[in-house]
Amino acid sequence: MVSKQVSESGGDKEEETVVEIDRVTKRYGSLVAVNDVSIPIRDGEFMTILGPSGAGKTTLLHMIAGFERPTEGEIYIDDRPVSDEPPNERNIGLVFQSLALFPHMTVKENIAFPLKMRREDPEDIDGQINEVLELVQLPVDYKNKPVGDLSGGQQQRVAFARAIVYEPTLLLLDEPLSSLDKKLREEMRSELTRIHAETDLTIVHVTHNQTEALSMADRIAVINGGALEQLAPAKEIYAQPATPFVAGFIGDTTMLDGTVNRIDGRRAAVAVGGGEVTVESDDRVTVGDDVRIALRAEKIALDHDDVDADNAYEATVEQVAFEGDQTQYTISVASLDAVIDVTHQDPDPETVFDRGDVITAGWDAAEVFVYNQ
Ligand SMILES: Nc1ncnc2c1ncn2[C@@H]1O[C@H](COP(=O)(O)OP(=O)(O)OP(=O)(O)O)[C@@H](O)[C@H]1O
Ligand SMILES: [Mg+2]
Repeated sequence: MVSKQVSESGGDKEEETVVEIDRVTKRYGSLVAVNDVSIPIRDGEFMTILGPSGAGKTTLLHMIAGFERPTEGEIYIDDRPVSDEPPNERNIGLVFQSLALFPHMTVKENIAFPLKMRREDPEDIDGQINEVLELVQLPVDYKNKPVGDLSGGQQQRVAFARAIVYEPTLLLLDEPLSSLDKKLREEMRSELTRIHAETDLTIVHVTHNQTEALSMADRIAVINGGALEQLAPAKEIYAQPATPFVAGFIGDTTMLDGTVNRIDGRRAAVAVGGGEVTVESDDRVTVGDDVRIALRAEKIALDHDDVDADNAYEATVEQVAFEGDQTQYTISVASLDAVIDVTHQDPDPETVFDRGDVITAGWDAAEVFVYNQ
């Protein structure tokens, strides 16, 4: 199966599958932690597995690493089925949330550890350490400091250095940035992106943080309740969420339930509350269908007077949260019996609204995601 995929893609290195998660299920007793998941991971790709707590992300990563064995299905690394292969034979680098560094050992001793485990020539080790320190941009004179004396961000760099010093096929990252404060987390995000670009490492990164996933990943696999919801490039995950779960989990989204009233060419009218929302229809929607529609907060226009859009409603401002570069509103639309989140980025004082203001809210049909129930 793996080699077939490779040959179909014409042997282009970028398209080669390095890790194939093939219909993998993991059960713990009656609990299904991972449910029939298939993810092909390409050579050099930055793949992010995104999902809420308990979705099965760590379990998936542990199966790739060899700490857990699939109950069903198989994982292939470089075309080899690896279920019977112990972790130390898989040539994988790992960074987990608890960095698992040895705090009393020096930076050099920490980074040398996997090289010594692999019985590499001690003469070569120093050179390898210098190279990897440069890659993660830690000053060479930090080599002899105990890791416990370093800042959080510096320890993070040591953990990355230790994971990649022996040039693994694959780097697995399980929420490696979640213990850092916001500013450092953002800095390390761009550092990881840089390291990926400079090395062509294949990275499988696990997070529950949507922004982290969107900003770093080539492709995102969204999982929920052990099952794969969508696998697509980051931009596509955002612009065309395949399921209501993906639409709701990524971005600030309001869901409304309704019934298709009429279809008129490429347009459908969905009855919501006591009103109607016009959406773009496709072949999957027919009159009488119960549907769920999703609205992105940043796609909704607000105005004191009129909004020029396919859908426009009188709305009342219920809550206002000023955030500097943008303002978050909660509005109620009585005719739809709906409460809707809106992100507004217009700094013009003419379009700043107060709680209790009665205004107009509007959005175009093309901005509405529609899902059959
Ligand atoms: N060794 C185990 N024994 C029994 N159940 C387990 C075991 N490991 C994980 N689980 C269960 O499997 C499910 C998935 O767990 P997992 O740790 O993979 O989630 P996660 O997506 O990594 O969550 P988080 O974001 O909180 O780290 C959970 O319901 C968890 O309780
Ligand atoms: Mg986890």
